[in-house]
This record gives sequence, C-alpha cells and structure tokens, in this order.
Amino acid sequence: MCGIYACIGDIAANDKVLSGLKRIEYRGYDSWGIASCDQEIAIEKHVGKISLVKELQLIPRTIAIGHTRWATHGGVTQANAHPHLASNGAFALVQNGVLENYQELKKTATKNGYQFKTQTDTEVIVALLEQENAQAIKLKSFASTMQQMVGRNTILLLEKSGGIWAYRQGSPLIIGKNQRGTFFFSSDLASLSHDADMYYVLENQEIAHLEGKKLTIYQIENLSVKTTLFQKLDQEALAVDKGNFPHFMLKEIYEQTESLIKVLSESHNLFKKIAKKIDLASNIYLVGAGSASYAALHTTIELRKYKQHVFHVPAYDYADFENNWNKQDLAIVLSQSGETADTIEAVEKMQAKGVFIVSVVNMPSSTLMKNADLTYPLNVGAEIGVASTKALTAHILFGMALSDYLLHRNFKFQASVAAFCDQLKKWLSNPQVMKQIRQTAQTLSTKKDLYILGRGSNFPSALEFALKIKEVSYIHAEGFSAGELKHGVIALIEKNTPVICLVDEQNRQDMLSSAHEVKARGAQVVGIATDSEEVFDIHIKLPSKDFSNLGSIIIAQLLTYEIALLKNLDPDKPRNLAKSVTVK
Ligand code: AGP
Repeated sequence: MCGIYACIGDIAANDKVLSGLKRIEYRGYDSWGIASCDQEIAIEKHVGKISLVKELQLIPRTIAIGHTRWATHGGVTQANAHPHLASNGAFALVQNGVLENYQELKKTATKNGYQFKTQTDTEVIVALLEQENAQAIKLKSFASTMQQMVGRNTILLLEKSGGIWAYRQGSPLIIGKNQRGTFFFSSDLASLSHDADMYYVLENQEIAHLEGKKLTIYQIENLSVKTTLFQKLDQEALAVDKGNFPHFMLKEIYEQTESLIKVLSESHNLFKKIAKKIDLASNIYLVGAGSASYAALHTTIELRKYKQHVFHVPAYDYADFENNWNKQDLAIVLSQSGETADTIEAVEKMQAKGVFIVSVVNMPSSTLMKNADLTYPLNVGAEIGVASTKALTAHILFGMALSDYLLHRNFKFQASVAAFCDQLKKWLSNPQVMKQIRQTAQTLSTKKDLYILGRGSNFPSALEFALKIKEVSYIHAEGFSAGELKHGVIALIEKNTPVICLVDEQNRQDMLSSAHEVKARGAQVVGIATDSEEVFDIHIKLPSKDFSNLGSIIIAQLLTYEIALLKNLDPDKPRNLAKSVTVK
C-alpha cells in the first residue's frame, strides 16, 4: 500500500510529481522520494509526509517518478525510501506491493556478487534487473525478471535515457495523458484528474514501455503488443478537495446526509439481479476486511432475516471456509477501495471454486470491481480520509436495503432512508449535539481503555466504534456483544472505566441492564440512545430512533475526530495506516 506517481514530458515534471504524490499520500506516508533525469538520474528522498514538503531541492527536469511509502520490509529510513537507484546509476525503481520470495531472490543476487545497501524487498528487484541488464533495459530481460517475482507487485522504473518501464501484478497503475502529449502514471485514478484528460488502466500481467512519446503495452506471457484504448477522464467527478472543512474526515462525515441516499441509486436495476442469485444460492458468504468486515457481519445479520446458510467471512480468515465453497454458492464482497489484498485473494480462491462474486465497491475501475461477476457501485464519491466513514455506512445501508428488498420486493425502504438523512442533517447542525460530543471527547481523550457494548445489529456497530477509536485517536478500545459481559469481560470493569452503551429500540431493556451491571461496579456509563436514562453518566442523543446502528457509528466518527484534534493528531492520516491495504 504505497503510492506511485510519474510525469513524462513536462518542464515542471518534478513539481507535478510532488503534487501528485500529495494527492495519493493517503496510500502510505512513512517516507517519500522523487527521481528525475536528464541523461543522469538525480534522487531526493526523505522520511516523513510528502504533504509537509514546500519545495524540492531537485533541479527541474522534464521527466520524474515518485513514491510515497508505507513500510513493509525495512524500517522507515531515508535509505529504505523509494526510489532505489541501480548501483551503476542506469535506472531508478519504485514498487507498490510485497515481493514474497525476496529472501530466495536476495540469496541468488548476493551469490552473483550484488552488495545490498538496504533491508527492502524492493532493492532485490533492482539487483535482479541490474544483473540482467548491464545498461539499457531490454524487454525480454525485464519480462523474465518480473516473472520471477511472487506476490502482488507493481513496478515503475526510470532509465537514465528517460525511458519508462512499468509492470502491474496486483496494485493498480493507471496511465494518463493530456493534449500536450505529456504522460502520467499513478496508483489511483482520482489523482490524475488534475493533470490528464485521458487514461488507460494497466491490467495485471501487462508491461508498459514509454520511450519519448511512444507508449507500447505488452502482455507479459507472450510479449504480444496490445492496442491501448484510452478513455476520457471525468475531471469534474474525480476532483476532490476539502471544501470548507479542515479535514477530509470531517467533510466525509457530513457528506453522509447525501451519500446514504446515493448508495441506493443503483438498487432499482441491480437488486433484482442480486436477489435472483441469492434465491438460487446454497450458501451465501459476506466478505470484507477491517471496517468492511464489520459491514459484512452486519449484512450477514440482515440477510439471515431472509435466508438460511448466510456466513460472515473476514477476508483474512477465508481459509476457514475454503472447503465449503462450491459453484452453487454466492459471495457478496464489500470493499471501499476495491484493492484490499486480503479481499482480492479471498475472491480469487472463491472464484477458483466456482463461487459467484457480487462486489460492492466504491472506487471505479478497481480490481475488485473488474474481477467480480456482478458489481454494485457504492457511488458515494472518493473517500480520502484513511479511516472509512461514508463508505462504511454506505456498505451497511446497502445490506439493510437489500434485506428489505428481499423481504418485500419493493423500494419503499428508500423513503425511510431519506427521512433519516433529513433528521441527520438537523442533528449535525444542532449546536447542543456538537457541544455534547466535544465534552464527551474531552472526557474520553485521557482514558487508557474504552469498552463499547452493543447487541444485535449494534454489535457490528460496537466493533466499528472501537476500531474508529483505535485507529483515529490511538486509544485502546474493545467492542463486544453486551451478552458477553457476564461471561468474563465484566472482570475488566473498575472505578471510572468508561463503558459506551449503544442502545437501540429492539434491545433497549437488555442494554439498560448491562449498563446497570457495569455501573454497579464503578463504570462511567456513556449512553448512546434516543432518550437519556438515570443510569447514564453521559448521554449522547442519537440522530433518530431509526437506523440507530448508523447513528451510533456516525457518533463514533465525530467523537474520534474530536479526540484526535484534542490530542493534536492528524485525523485524515493516522499513523501506521494507509487507505488501501494492497499487501496481505
Ligand atoms: C477503515 O477505517 C480501516 N482503515 C480499514 O479497516 C478498512 O476498512 C479496511 O482496510 C478495508 O478497506 P477496503 O474497504 O478498501 O477493502
């Protein structure tokens, strides 16, 4: 999960790459680097976030490649930052992915005399290419080196002659161009909207070679040349900025008053197709990772109202289910980015067993969107904040709407969604609510441990609530089913332990009993509920008595956003994370 950006054929290439990397910084921000060339290759690279860079020390050149890193192999150091330069200076290389067989290849390169300078897997690729190509890169040796790599790896290489080589196996790489004949390469489509007006998505197993203005695409298997079909890039739709908000996360939280309606825009023509598959399927698997896994769990609960044999599969644990899969089965796969390596691998394994794949994805032209048998586009617009907000609630709402359609075979559910969005709009503009949330954030910001209780469809919400607290405010938080409380968890409760209780209409009595049980042991009870109760020390009012699972999650998003500000953290780019986890 790193970001690659390149510009070929513009006098401001270095600065265009700098700006491009800033737009894809969400993909990883441990360190960054840019290589540019004019017969010789010059590299500037540093530890830290590219967004903090005002200007480059590099001499302006017309060709430049860049990389923003999320470290996998090798610590966060300047030496390990990309690009990596060949020992003879012939080329500089950047990688997005993990070379799974790097130890074995490193041994071979070392045996052949290569002296490693870094602990990265990336340098192994440099070593192999260097040993195969003394000076200029040749197609055949480039292809054979790429085919030695095991794992999902996307590579971009700049030769000192100014030539560009690229190979995609896994993480996305999109080629852009504009009317002036300038070419760009990027890890994501949205970032190209500032520079390019046409684009081509490099497919897996394809090599791109750009020499001057001549671009050739090869299929790596037989080195056959492929005619590239560039598409028009909708710059309007893809351009993203913060507007009047201080952070993308806050902007995307507020966008939920619209995004929760947008997500159903495809339901009229797609729910019928999906329902047919569900009716015929023997088993249904809901698959996702992280927040998307919690949305998958929620959808599992929803679909069980209609069908038996519905199973939740966290993408990283697909192996537990592998023996069950067969061609009568259906998988509904949730992913905001459509590039999560765990989820892609699970889909590949399911497809190998003949499972029909429905993907529910936000990012257009993503891998999961292209690999699925049927795709439901979330349509909520690019989500830049690394912690998922509007995409996550859209995934949950998709599950609720699909379940309602299966049970009633009509689209009346949308009216209740529109009503909820109206109430959410009012709630978000209520100064009392924001004051309550800021005061609660103040109280919780100094805590070491937080516990979140939920039941039924609020159990996945409790898990998501805890994840938001962990990943945005760096406080340990645990979400669990309230029913679990007396089976051990309650041993953790002592004086002033903060326990957040998600109270919904269906489970109101059980949740209040749990609140009393923890309160009796000294806990500080934060009630997320429609109405206050005497057992609550703090009460945050839900936006509506309906959709309390979504309301609780939106409160979690605002709470953790405020705690992050109180702790001087960056809510858009939490430490150690990246928006798209393209490595297993
Ligand atoms: C979201 O807040 C998390 N950062 C993370 O768990 C994310 O949901 C997960 O990596 C899945 O991403 P995806 O939806 O793009 O597949």
